[in-house]
Amino acid sequence: MISDRKLEHLLLCTHSDVEYHKKTGFNDVELVHKAIPEVNQEEIDLSTSLFGKKMDAPIVITAITGGHPTSLEVNRQLAHAAGKFNIGLGLGSQRAAVENPELASTYTVAREESSESLIIGNIGAPQMEQAPQATEMMELDALAVHLNTLQEAIQPGGDLNTVGYLSKLQKTVESSDLPIMIKETGAGISGNDAQLLEKTGIAAIDVAGAGGTSWAAVEKYRSKDKDMGELYWDWGIPTAASTVEVSQSVKIPIISSGGIRNGLDAVKSLALGANVIGMALPVLKASYMGEEVLSKFFEKFLAEMKVAMFLVGANNLEDLKKAELVITGKTREWIRERGYKTKTYARRSSL
Ligand code: FNR
Repeated sequence: MISDRKLEHLLLCTHSDVEYHKKTGFNDVELVHKAIPEVNQEEIDLSTSLFGKKMDAPIVITAITGGHPTSLEVNRQLAHAAGKFNIGLGLGSQRAAVENPELASTYTVAREESSESLIIGNIGAPQMEQAPQATEMMELDALAVHLNTLQEAIQPGGDLNTVGYLSKLQKTVESSDLPIMIKETGAGISGNDAQLLEKTGIAAIDVAGAGGTSWAAVEKYRSKDKDMGELYWDWGIPTAASTVEVSQSVKIPIISSGGIRNGLDAVKSLALGANVIGMALPVLKASYMGEEVLSKFFEKFLAEMKVAMFLVGANNLEDLKKAELVITGKTREWIRERGYKTKTYARRSSL
């Protein structure tokens, strides 16, 4: 049953080690310190907008759950936090409720809890034909189609035929009144794939790169055969590299996510070209500890972001696009070997 699987995913992700052993690559990205930043930290403005909705900070809680009675409480809490901080919220795959409408309340609770927030619906690429039912289920600002080939390849009975995805996506985009975005689920998106995806008319890309939650790891726990999940545990394009590849390849808005765990990494990914950052696992874990811990999590995260903005002299997200940074180590090797540029970030304020 899909619903039982949803509960299993929540429990596994909150109680077991499901994160990549390899890094996001943000440790290879160093923002250049500005000794005279000419900024009043108290006046730093983190506001932005996505899909026409204004947000107080460039943060989206990316897709987590829905479809199990337990998800109702989780989505209520996440939506409450999204409303309080005026940030975005992604719902988990709506497939469970498309197939069993009795479960719809586990998703619609998010809109009831937070009438103004940016809320993004969600459907898996193998279920793209369910997009109309997903968009009709509740008031959404966009619908994310998620790509999860790594998970499908490792999980028992996964969907292993992706032939025709791009043309199906194009049709989904053409027939939808809502903006359709694409998100990966932790294995990242390359620049080449981003270009193919952009041509279908999608409105945004969430790179969801490697370095955070590993779906090979999650499915390893659920499989009898542990070797496959173990072998592919670290598969994927690290988030920093994916963010660079995609931002140098397309013009549509980019959400950078996958292993972002503090405000400094968030600012690095925005400086690399992302419009918004996303997080799932740490937000889920904080929500399990209650509303106060969840609020504290975001307060700390925003404070961390503002320190980085202050130290690079950025009053707002526009300024951050000119902040200088140096890419070193393995991430530099990856980016240069793949033919993308690294130097453009290093001296851009004086160019
Ligand atoms: C997810 N994620 C996810 N993504 C999606 O598009 N649809 C979904 O239904 C789910 N479900 C889900 C459940 C749980 C428990 C977790 C932790 C995650 C993936 C998520 O949105 C994100 O892309 C990855 O988890 C990587 O980000 P983090 O967790 O490293 O911040």
